[in-house]
Amino acid sequence: MSPLGRASIMCGIVGYIGKNNNPQLGLSALRRLEYRGYDSAGIAVFNPEKQEILCLKAKGKIDELEKKFSEARFSGSPFILHTRWATHGEPSEANAHPHCDCQKNIYLVHNGIIENYKELKEALITEGHKFASETDTEVLAHLIEKYSNPGQPLEDAVRHALKEVKGAYALAIISRNDPQKIVAAKLGSPLILGINQDEFLVASDPAAIVSHTRQVITLDDNEIAVLSPDNFFILKEKPIEKIEWEVEDAQKQGFSHFMLKEIFEEPEAIKKSIVGRMILEQGLAKLGGLEQVSEQLKKIEKVVIVACGTASYAGKVGEYMFEEYAKISTKLEIGSEFRYKNAILDDKTAVLAVSQSGETADTLEAIKEAKRKGCLCLGLVNTVGSSITRETDAGVYCRIGPEIAVASSKAFVSQLCILALITVFLGRQREMSLVTGKRILEELEKLPNLAKKILAQSDYIKDLAKKYSEYRNFYFLGRKYNFPIALEGALKLKEIAWKIHAEATPAGEMKHGQIALIDENFPVVCICPYDSIYDKMKNAMEEVKARKGKILAITTEGNEEIKSLADDVIYIPKTLEMLTPILSVLPLHLFAAYLGLELGLDIDKPRNLAKSVTVE
Ligand code: AGP
Repeated sequence: MSPLGRASIMCGIVGYIGKNNNPQLGLSALRRLEYRGYDSAGIAVFNPEKQEILCLKAKGKIDELEKKFSEARFSGSPFILHTRWATHGEPSEANAHPHCDCQKNIYLVHNGIIENYKELKEALITEGHKFASETDTEVLAHLIEKYSNPGQPLEDAVRHALKEVKGAYALAIISRNDPQKIVAAKLGSPLILGINQDEFLVASDPAAIVSHTRQVITLDDNEIAVLSPDNFFILKEKPIEKIEWEVEDAQKQGFSHFMLKEIFEEPEAIKKSIVGRMILEQGLAKLGGLEQVSEQLKKIEKVVIVACGTASYAGKVGEYMFEEYAKISTKLEIGSEFRYKNAILDDKTAVLAVSQSGETADTLEAIKEAKRKGCLCLGLVNTVGSSITRETDAGVYCRIGPEIAVASSKAFVSQLCILALITVFLGRQREMSLVTGKRILEELEKLPNLAKKILAQSDYIKDLAKKYSEYRNFYFLGRKYNFPIALEGALKLKEIAWKIHAEATPAGEMKHGQIALIDENFPVVCICPYDSIYDKMKNAMEEVKARKGKILAITTEGNEEIKSLADDVIYIPKTLEMLTPILSVLPLHLFAAYLGLELGLDIDKPRNLAKSVTVE
């Protein structure tokens, strides 16, 4: 399905190269595409006798072109044809495709929209190119001309030209200087190759091909096919990606451990994750990596977030965010489970992989399974160019630099921020108002400073770690947005202070069994900011208190009453309920790190673990 939905129903293109020199074949194939648009039509044929490309165009339906062709009756191969639904430039013969370059060497037909054609056209005119139409498409012919060199394959000039193009295209291109070839390129608009014994076709829709062959290849985005009379090959254009961090980012920079450095980087990680990605006045999230699939996302009816370990806890927060604020059915799936449960997936489902490394095998295989089922696959990844980014259709990078410590900290916080941005992105495509979108973004923007305020309590948190270092069992309780934070707090403690066992449960579950464990030797960390379910959290704390359980509470500044329940309190600043996880996790990361150090453990490389789990 094309990311720019309308681009895929705008025009119809056909191309043919092979033993048949009668372009009538192309006209018959083009008629199968007339439903895609019929305000004008055209054909371009390479004529071997004249060694030039002959072109005919006609305003109106294909019949008009057929009348002209029956008089001209020229022959040759390859040939390309087009039936148009006008987007740029009125229906006219001049605006009909095929379009050519200044020298009439290169002819092409196009389905799609070149979004940056105006600036490209201005630049080309400045360089002396003369235009014959008002269309966006003609720009491509002149751009390819600009990059063409004598003796150089046509596909090289096409590849160069397309690097400057933004928008959607399905193209078929022929050139007098490289005549026994059709170059086809696809991004965002459909393009199918028809494979036959010593003849090849290209078309917008199999309907134009099926009477010649049933062997087809559907081109993927960023693929370029080169068809010659007896062979074809397909190039995959890989976008060039840029590493944005410096070497010193991978050093400790004065900290004793990467784990501490990366926790204290969390306020900066929040900032890097959101900067440049918010249009406050319109309450919009600006996520370039999702723009190309924006039209598809509008049609999505369900999201599956797939991840492992800490990333899965971020995904769980995302589940709550997407459902409450984007009003889209969402479910977190653990990567290693997702693959084998035969989840109900279809092309109305988007699958979002959350992964710091982008190499976690369980998550990667889950995405491959989702792709096989026709889902739109997205990535929320920190490591540029990793396997998951290559496997997904689109996505968002964390942009926070390398995370070296095995236990994830700043990446987790970044994932939460980007999930909040994706919530706004999806929500504003649906029922979310500008006011709500703006409110979320304004509160997100405040978080880096609020996070710094929390980490300024590091000495106090270190003292608490020392105080609790005698205990060997902990429970972590939270509800709604902070239940996944309870899971993360427990995992962090187990991971890096691994002499201690910790478990998390939704606070409401304690009374269904777990509370049997609680006594004065079994402290409980309660994540209970002032939010919609604070009173319910208080009930759970009272249950723990009644069994002499020690309570360490993480709650909102100004909450004095909690002191009657909790033995110790760490305060966090007030923010939106959906954003509290980004703040409530910070004390838990520090608490785990200081406890690990108190126990004399290597908190950067905990035993039995690896930074990226590339085995299933
Ligand atoms: C996090 O502290 C752990 N090291 C582990 O759970 C990790 O989050 C998980 O393996 C997923 O890794 P990823 O984010 O690189 O996919």
